[in-house]
Amino acid sequence: MANNNLKQAKKAKNDEFYTQWCDIEKEIMAYIDYNPNVFRDKTVLLPCDDPEWSNFTKFFAQNFEFFGLKKLISTSYAYESKNIEQYYQPSLFEQNSPNYDVDKTKIKGKIFTLEHDTNKNGVIDIEDLEWSYLEGDGDFRSNEVKKLRDEADIIITNPPFSLFRDFLAWVFEANKSFIMIGNINCLTYKEVFLKIKENDAWLGTGMGRWISGFIVPESYQLYGSEARIENGNRIVATNNCLWLTNLDHGKRHQPLELMTMADNIKHSKHKEIRTQKYPQYDNFQAIEVPFTDAIPSDYEGVMGVPVTFLDKYNPEQFEIVALGNLNGFPPNKTYINPISHINGKEKKNEMINSVLTLKGNDKKGNFYTADNIDYHIYAPYARILIKKR
Ligand SMILES: C[S@@+](CC[C@H](N)C(=O)[O-])C[C@H]1O[C@@H](n2cnc3c(N)ncnc32)[C@H](O)[C@@H]1O
Repeated sequence: MANNNLKQAKKAKNDEFYTQWCDIEKEIMAYIDYNPNVFRDKTVLLPCDDPEWSNFTKFFAQNFEFFGLKKLISTSYAYESKNIEQYYQPSLFEQNSPNYDVDKTKIKGKIFTLEHDTNKNGVIDIEDLEWSYLEGDGDFRSNEVKKLRDEADIIITNPPFSLFRDFLAWVFEANKSFIMIGNINCLTYKEVFLKIKENDAWLGTGMGRWISGFIVPESYQLYGSEARIENGNRIVATNNCLWLTNLDHGKRHQPLELMTMADNIKHSKHKEIRTQKYPQYDNFQAIEVPFTDAIPSDYEGVMGVPVTFLDKYNPEQFEIVALGNLNGFPPNKTYINPISHINGKEKKNEMINSVLTLKGNDKKGNFYTADNIDYHIYAPYARILIKKR
């Protein structure tokens, strides 16, 4: 239990990762480039936000007229409900406002709305944001924030890491357009994968280093070379996030430039392709393609490719068949009494019966044996199964 609490607290620390303006701008402008009217006359909700800290509200408020928005709503989460060890100081913006309430400031969420030229200066922009305290703490699962979700046409945010799956369910059940940041691992969650397979969701314009880093609070301990201070902000580059959306953009319609299988085997920059070629899986009729840029352009069958392929996925070029693990595909062979050999330790392990397997050449690294095979096998990294259209 104590361990669980610790894990939860550790996870919740990563909830206070704020998205940089440059990353928001790069992503959002890709949708505008593809369809300049994507936000026209739309109500955009930015939940789990906080304009005093975060850039989503600032960015959309500044571009309110350019995007042709009908209404912008953003909500923030109460300080006391957050899991942060930082001294609380209401912003000057809040303290100087007639709405300021000393009893509510720590425990209530806030709602910010932008709809009119409230200061009558001829433009609708950040200066026209109106705000008030919410009834509750701004939890996205509360009825009052759910109501705002139902009012919105498009939901955009970087949600709390520790509640990512709940947030996904919250967005999916509303059946709205969305753009959100998530961890790359989410691609192997059944609920996300199935949406991508059915072409109901896809990656935004990039993953990993594409998102240049997140702003973290003072209390966050910077670590390693992945951390830096920039313009006074503490930035952590995580390299493990992506944008997930169901709004169209140009990148997903660009075909991947690929070589034929014969050319790959001769000229691929990857030694593995030149030497091992494209091995067949031991328990499924498909070939292993360990690098997206080595997908053979002329192969008609099913191919297992890295999950990161989804960053380059063009639905007009490829069809997604299944996930290569977690019972995503029907194996054509069951290993009897499989034994894993991991770091020299042998253990009964059925896991191998739910993932793609390859025959091993040597017994280096982790591998499996079983009663009904006289060779050893291993599981490649997470794969998805695809087919040329
Ligand atoms: C990853 S941060 C991102 C903040 C902002 N959207 C951005 O991208 O800059 C997630 C935010 O959600 C807040 N949060 C955590 N749990 C929440 C909940 N249950 N409901 C609403 N917000 C929550 C966190 O306190 C944090 O401010």
